Amino acid sequence: MIQKRVKELASEIARDHQGKDTVLVGILKGAVFFFCDLARELDIQVGIDFLRAASYGPSSSSSGTITLTKDVETPLEGKSVVLVEDIIDTGLTMSRILEELKRKKPSEVKVCVLLDKPERREIEVQVDYCGFRVEGGFVVGYGLDYDEQYRNLSEIFVLKGI
Ligand code: IMP
Repeated sequence: MIQKRVKELASEIARDHQGKDTVLVGILKGAVFFFCDLARELDIQVGIDFLRAASYGPSSSSSGTITLTKDVETPLEGKSVVLVEDIIDTGLTMSRILEELKRKKPSEVKVCVLLDKPERREIEVQVDYCGFRVEGGFVVGYGLDYDEQYRNLSEIFVLKGI
C-alpha cells in the first residue's frame, strides 16, 4: 500500500517537474525511507540533498523551538526544490524549514509529505503532494520514530500507550 502510493506521488512530481532543474531535499531522519523509495520511482533527473531539523521538547510533539542542525550543501538559487518530509503534525517544523529554504532563493519550493496529520495543526502549511492523511494517534515505522525506536519497521503502525 505504501509503495503503490509512493509510485503515484513520484509520477505526480515527475509530471510537474519535467525540464526543471530540480533538487529533492529530504528531511532527516524520519523521511529517509520514504525519500529513497520516492527518488527511485522518479523518472526525471533530480539532484538530492538533505537537511535536519531538531525540535526541543517531549518526543511525541514539536515544542516550537526548531533549529536546523544540518543544512543542504547544494546551492538552491534558481532551482526547483521538492522538500520530502515524513509527517506534518502541528506544522511548526515544516513552516520553519520553508522559511529557511526560501532565503536561498529557489525558483519554487514544493512540499511532499508521506503523512498529513491535520488534527493538531497550529500553523497553516503548504502541502503539494500528500501520501496519506492520518486521523490522530502517534505513528511509527518506515522512518518514523518514537524516541529513536521503530524507524526500521517496514510498515507504519499506531503506537499505543503513549
Ligand atoms: P510538527 O512540527 O508538529 O508538524 O511535527 C513534525 C515532526 O514531528 C515530524 O517530522 C516528526 O519527526 C514528528 N512527529 C509528529 N507526529 C509524529 C508521529 O505520529 N510519529 C512520529 N513522529 C511524529
